[in-house]
Amino acid sequence: NWSMENFIDMQIKDIRAKVGDKKVLLGLSGGVDSSVVGVLLQRAIGDQLTSIFVDHGFLRKGEADQVMETLGGKFGLNIIKVDAQKRFMEKLVGLSDPEQKRKIIGNEFVYVFDDEASKLKGVDFLAQGTLYTDVIESGTDTAQTIKSHHNVGGLPEDMQFQLIEPLNTLFKDEVRALGTQLGMPDEIVWRQPFPGPGLAIRVLGDLTEEKLETVRESDAILRDEISKAGLERDVWQYFTVNTDVRSVGVMGDGRTYDYTIAIRAITSIDGMTADFARLPWDILQKISVRIVNEVDHVNRIVYDITSKPPATVEWQ
Ligand code: XMP
Repeated sequence: NWSMENFIDMQIKDIRAKVGDKKVLLGLSGGVDSSVVGVLLQRAIGDQLTSIFVDHGFLRKGEADQVMETLGGKFGLNIIKVDAQKRFMEKLVGLSDPEQKRKIIGNEFVYVFDDEASKLKGVDFLAQGTLYTDVIESGTDTAQTIKSHHNVGGLPEDMQFQLIEPLNTLFKDEVRALGTQLGMPDEIVWRQPFPGPGLAIRVLGDLTEEKLETVRESDAILRDEISKAGLERDVWQYFTVNTDVRSVGVMGDGRTYDYTIAIRAITSIDGMTADFARLPWDILQKISVRIVNEVDHVNRIVYDITSKPPATVEWQ
């Protein structure tokens, strides 16, 4: 694709001209947009870029390692990884109100990022993965009034940066094409949407380590089976939820009283409206059997067959 190559060359020239010999900071979330910005900037200015990646403990299984291995290892980004799992969990354990969880995670994220950023000296620029859709929608997102969509990554409060937003003329599909052109793997380029507050909003009722673990493990099994079935690109988003419902089951000779995990899998264009995905029964069966067998404290699986509206994509 010649035009994408031209775009890359042009961006690299622009970034070099703008940055000169100064330093740039980037908040990496593991998502497509910030990852593509990272790889593009690495190409343009190499070690003048420092990235901060905050692990808040609500990422999917293996996700933090994948970011470090791929972006830090293969692409050579200089990444400061902040292991903030304890700090976040202390603030959130026992909380059940989703908006409160979102607010605390969003705020805490800014504090953690701010703490790390202020240790760095002489940084003049902050890079962000703002897309064209963010530019045109900013301030008019009606979804915001329904759920406060805190995206991970906020401006550190007392710092003065000039912004670098190399994706702000692109749509999502163009960002994916750009990532592919930059040699990035499909796991990052075709990563499904994932909420900033992560798995924390996929635990209903009080947030506990145990429930979080049921979501992390069941989600990993769901992703594994969807991938084995080659359905990743047919389903827009897919995940599991700990419903906080416990019910009776039998295991061997014994009675169990354990959690019900819901599977959510949807087709959608933009997340604003969605339909439940018609996953084949035999795939659903495999997923169900594996989750109940492999994940502790789970004895029942249900499949969410509501569309949006009236339901939302996430359960809270
Ligand atoms: P809903 O549940 O509102 O989700 O139908 C629509 C899309 O937005 C994602 N989502 C979030 N993303 N922070 C985010 O960055 C959030 O708090 C949040 N809540 C929902 C959801 O995963 C879906 O893709």
